[in-house]
Amino acid sequence: MVKIGDIELNSKFILPAIAGFSDIGLRVLSYRYGAGLCVGEMVSAKGLVYGSENTEALLKVDPREPIKAVQLFGSEPEFIEKAVKHKSLNKFDLIDLNFGCPVPKIVKNGEGSALMRDPYRLGMVVSTAVKAAGGRPVTAKMRIGFNENEINCVRVAKEIEEAGAQAITVHGRTREQFYSGEVNLDAIKAVKEAVSIPVFGNGNVTDLAKANEMFCHTSVDGIAVARGAIGRPYIFAELLGQVPLYDITELIMEHFALLESIMPERVAVNCIKKHIAGYTYGLRGGKDIKNRVFASTTRDEIIDVAKSFKNLVK
Ligand SMILES: Cc1cc2nc3c(=O)[nH]c(=O)nc-3n(C[C@H](O)[C@H](O)[C@H](O)COP(=O)(O)O)c2cc1C
Repeated sequence: MVKIGDIELNSKFILPAIAGFSDIGLRVLSYRYGAGLCVGEMVSAKGLVYGSENTEALLKVDPREPIKAVQLFGSEPEFIEKAVKHKSLNKFDLIDLNFGCPVPKIVKNGEGSALMRDPYRLGMVVSTAVKAAGGRPVTAKMRIGFNENEINCVRVAKEIEEAGAQAITVHGRTREQFYSGEVNLDAIKAVKEAVSIPVFGNGNVTDLAKANEMFCHTSVDGIAVARGAIGRPYIFAELLGQVPLYDITELIMEHFALLESIMPERVAVNCIKKHIAGYTYGLRGGKDIKNRVFASTTRDEIIDVAKSFKNLVK
């Protein structure tokens, strides 16, 4: 089984950080269905150090998460160090660093995937985090390059390994591709061959056939499944060859209860709506109910609507 530092994963399939989605609910449910590791939504190192209000909910964890993993983004080693040492990160077992975010605002700040263009700084960020982490494993999530003329994932992966990180997840696209277009399996394979720490391949894996294709082509140690797990935490059981039992109403109710355990009702209601769109994607007759979901403003309305999915079939 895959080992990240001293942490042994129960499965080769992991849930990477997904801003707006890899919240406490999706993580607890994904672990239950067999994910080996679930990473929380990305958090700004600077925001954390300056005590920004919205980082607080992002850092809440549940005792049912066997491995508690946080993702930080930032480009200034000074802030990375302070963030990793921050008391609110003490409860985390693993610290992941984001070198893949393509969002213009982040890239303009030199953060996320912008660091793919500055491997030296990226290496400094990693080595600073490793030193500050007090023995906890640090991992990195990257892309294959900034654009098709700058595919430098092998160079960057070596930098990450040399700086002391214990695993790499590589999304097989460039920053300029954002989230669409072909996933470059050859580039993922080259990363796997270049380093000796575990490598997780990532991009468009939504079923066992696609997972097998990635494993066969690249020999990666594991696979990160992001969009394929939104509204489908049971995908982790399917990828392990199991036939999971699940009930959409129950999944929504449990997910909602987890959100409510860490945030005010109004925020939890807003947050569950996008997940409900995922849980009910492809449901026959679900469209009207979905409109009701988006019109809901209270917990009771959400629960009523969730109950009405009981008799619908995919
Ligand atoms: C809405 C959204 C938010 C994302 N947020 C993050 C993030 O916070 N950190 C990160 O490393 N990657 C983030 N990603 C990238 C995913 O983790 C993943 O690399 C990408 O979606 C490709 O994998 P997939 O095809 O399995 O979805 C995000 C992707 C999406 C679609």
